[in-house]
Amino acid sequence: MKRELAIEFSRATEVAALAAYKLLGRGDKNAADQAAVTAMRVMLNKVDINGEVVIGEGEIDDAPMLYIGESVGTKHGVDVDIAVDPVEGTRMTALGQNNAVSVLAAAEKGSLLQAPDMYMEKLVCRPEAKGKIDLSKSLAENLKTIAKCANKPLEKLTVAILAKPRHDEIIKKLYTLGVKVFAFPDGDVAASILTCMPDSEVDVMYGIGGAPEGVISAAVIRALGGDMQAKLLTRDIAKGATLENIDHGKVEKQRCSQMGVTPGDILTLEQMVKSDHIIFSATGITNGDLLQGITRNDNIATTETLVIRGKSRTIRRIKSIHYLDRKDSELKDILL
Ligand code: FBP
Repeated sequence: MKRELAIEFSRATEVAALAAYKLLGRGDKNAADQAAVTAMRVMLNKVDINGEVVIGEGEIDDAPMLYIGESVGTKHGVDVDIAVDPVEGTRMTALGQNNAVSVLAAAEKGSLLQAPDMYMEKLVCRPEAKGKIDLSKSLAENLKTIAKCANKPLEKLTVAILAKPRHDEIIKKLYTLGVKVFAFPDGDVAASILTCMPDSEVDVMYGIGGAPEGVISAAVIRALGGDMQAKLLTRDIAKGATLENIDHGKVEKQRCSQMGVTPGDILTLEQMVKSDHIIFSATGITNGDLLQGITRNDNIATTETLVIRGKSRTIRRIKSIHYLDRKDSELKDILL
C-alpha cells in the first residue's frame, strides 16, 4: 500500500466523525452510526483502491452500508482488506460522553481475520512483553509476566478494562493483585491502542468486548509492535447461559464454522493480522484519552486524527480545520 493512502484513509474517519458529531447528544445511537457509515462510505469510494470490507457494520441483510463483503474504492488500485467502525462508542456519542472515535484499518488483501460479529476475550499488552503473553494461562500469571517485561512492580502496572457487569469479579481480583485499574464504560479499541502509545501509562487491556473491535485493535497493535491474544466467545459464554443466549450462541457457532474459526480457540496476533503493512486511522468524535474530540463553531469544525503506518511505525496526529459548507455536495447534507 502506498504511503499516500494514509491521508486518504484519514479523510474517511474525519468525515465519519464529523457526521456522527452532528448527532451528538441526541439520544439516538443508530442515527449517529448511520450518518457516520454513509459519510465514510462516500469518502472510501473516492480512494484509488480495490477494497473489500472484511470487518464492517454487519451482514448485508442487517447493514445497508459498509457490510462485510462490500467492495469500496474506485477499483483502480491495490487490493486491500478494510476494517471499519465508523462510530466506536455509539452510546457515548448518543449521550454526549467522552471517548467516542471513528476508526478504520486497511491491510494487504487476505491479511485480516474474518470473524462474525460476536464477543471476544482480549489480552493486549505493550511492546516490551511481545511474545510473552499466553491466554491459556491465568490473568494473574500474564500480568506478572508483563510487569516483569516492563521492568516495574505489579503495583505500578495499569490495566484498562471495560466497566461491564461481566467484569465485576475480574476487577475485584485485579485490586487484590495490587494493579491499577482504569475501568472505562465503552470503547475497547482506544483502550487497546493506549497500551502501545509511547506517552500512555496503560500497560494492558483485558476483557470481553466485540470481535470486530478486536480485529481492528489487532491491526493497530501489530502496527505498533505490541502483542495481543484473543478468543472468540459465544454469547452464552460471554453474557450468561440464558435460553436466548444459548440459541444465539448456536447461530454464532455456525457462522464461525462457515468462516473457518472456532470459538474458544486462542488466536495469536499473527493469526488475526498476517502483515505489518497496515494503515490505521482514528478520528476523535468526543474528547478522550487517545484523541481530542471535535469542536464546531457553526460550519467550521476541527478534528484530531491519529494515523499510523505499520511499515514505518510512524504515528501522526493530524489537526484539521473543516469548512463544512465547502465539502462535496454528497457530504454537505450529512455534515451541515
Ligand atoms: P459500539 O460503538 O458498537 O456500541 O461499541 C462500543 C463497545 O464498548 C466496544 O468498544 C466494545 O468492544 C463493545 O461495545 C462491548 O460490547 P457490549 O456493549 O455489548 O458489552
